[in-house]
Amino acid sequence: MKEIINVEMKARKVEFSRCKADMLCVGLFSDAKGLDKLNAELNGKLEGAIERVIKLGDFKGKEGTIAIIYGSGNIGARRVMLVGLGEKKKATLETIRKASANAANKAVAMKIRNIALAMHRAFGARFDLSTAGRVCAEGVYFGGYRYDEFVTESENGRLDSLEVELIDSDPAKVRKLNKGLLSGVVIGKAQSYARTLANRPGNVMNPPELAAAAKKMAKETAGISCTVFDEKQLAAKGMGGILAVGSGSQNKPRFIVLKYSPASKAASAKPTIAIVGKAITFDSGGISIKPSAKMEQMKLDKSGGIAVLATMKAAAELKLPLNVYGIIPAAENLPSGTSYRPGDIITTFSGKTVEVQNTDAEGRMVLCDGLSYAARQNCDIIIDIATLTGACMVALGKHKAGLMGNDEKLIKQLQRAANESGEKLWHMPSGDEYAEEMKSKIADLKNIGGKWGGACTAAAFLRQFTEDKKWAHLDIAGVDMFEKPSEFSAEGSSGFGVRLLTTYLMNAAKKK
Ligand code: BES
Ligand code: MN
Ligand code: ZN
Repeated sequence: MKEIINVEMKARKVEFSRCKADMLCVGLFSDAKGLDKLNAELNGKLEGAIERVIKLGDFKGKEGTIAIIYGSGNIGARRVMLVGLGEKKKATLETIRKASANAANKAVAMKIRNIALAMHRAFGARFDLSTAGRVCAEGVYFGGYRYDEFVTESENGRLDSLEVELIDSDPAKVRKLNKGLLSGVVIGKAQSYARTLANRPGNVMNPPELAAAAKKMAKETAGISCTVFDEKQLAAKGMGGILAVGSGSQNKPRFIVLKYSPASKAASAKPTIAIVGKAITFDSGGISIKPSAKMEQMKLDKSGGIAVLATMKAAAELKLPLNVYGIIPAAENLPSGTSYRPGDIITTFSGKTVEVQNTDAEGRMVLCDGLSYAARQNCDIIIDIATLTGACMVALGKHKAGLMGNDEKLIKQLQRAANESGEKLWHMPSGDEYAEEMKSKIADLKNIGGKWGGACTAAAFLRQFTEDKKWAHLDIAGVDMFEKPSEFSAEGSSGFGVRLLTTYLMNAAKKK
């Protein structure tokens, strides 16, 4: 199988116009009056080429656009790429991240293996340079990512590696950029790892294979341990929810428990956090089978669990002074003679019973066991992440994930992490009036509510398994994938949640 594109990044001190690169990338705002110092200098050396492109109207600095100018003997780089940054007053960290993604995406598309980025220059002192270095790296990994490990045709093959340098002429700035770059590389690589695992199809990535991937990651990463419960151990523990969902498939369910314990003692003063991710390796709906159109997209129903796996990897590589559990209930939801059925009453790990009214509402059936298991470890905070409901997609579209929870402070901290990571969230309700809809006449709960507010009733169901811990729920249905490629990304898995959760953990680790 083909490896994904290997991205190598570093920060380097060099005069912009002397930098020898296949392509030097600089940023321009759409509403800037005239060129900034760096671009004016390059423009001079390029005999006015930047001004000509702008005067001709071929480049307006809009976000997502670029223009390429070919070098002259007066500069070191063979090409200069102008990268649009949009309006200056609207610029955020996400602007730098997207510009970096756009540049890396174009470099891969054009098979340019060596690029130098100087986009941070356009922002002056607006952002801390270490943060800028981090988001540049995150953006490069995001935009440079491709998934083609099963494409065997080698003709016209894509790049196997991309070298990226963040450049500045001031050594103090280079040091700051480099500091952030190092964590950005960890986060970017973790997100690409997540995207590859998520993009793998159901015949390749089933629950035992996912468990094997988790074991491998834990073995290769200092500070992480991994325990996996197989179907026999699940039965012994009474984990009826995950067992019911997995009962229709030959590929038996697995319950994956990762634990990250840092080497430093500083962690004991901080809360212990559990992140729980839904990993349905393929969701056909089961006996309540889904329509066939686009059912193939349901290989991505493991995205929440994989975001947890990749976040654990990033947290450990960043050596965060924080104890973190990563809990991943993994099952395949298929119809067969051994499947669970509508009408079944299931006893979950918590002891609570659930009447199954729709086997396609399987995410909550595996998560309830994951949440109660998390609550029974010594953790203070539980965050779950799941491609849980089509209703969340109806409510928020494909731009933001749903955020529910029982603790205002935790909600605020996650909203802050969302703003910083560019993985956006929108707060939605999940209170008692929604929980009311999930009551069954013949069991403690049923697994579907009424026609309306499906994302909220699903969250209200989950809340009842959190045993009064501080809890938040991220419904990532819709944001887990891109249906089409864009200026910033390849199609397929988005790796949503890896940047968000890692940022949340980084912030939690910093707090006194
Ligand atoms: N995995 C789906 C939700 C989903 C839908 C994710 C579309 C991504 C894109 C989930 O298991 C599901 O089938 N939910 C049902 C719940 C319903 C039966 C209450 C849904 O949303 O229709
Ligand atoms: Mn389903
Ligand atoms: Zn599902």
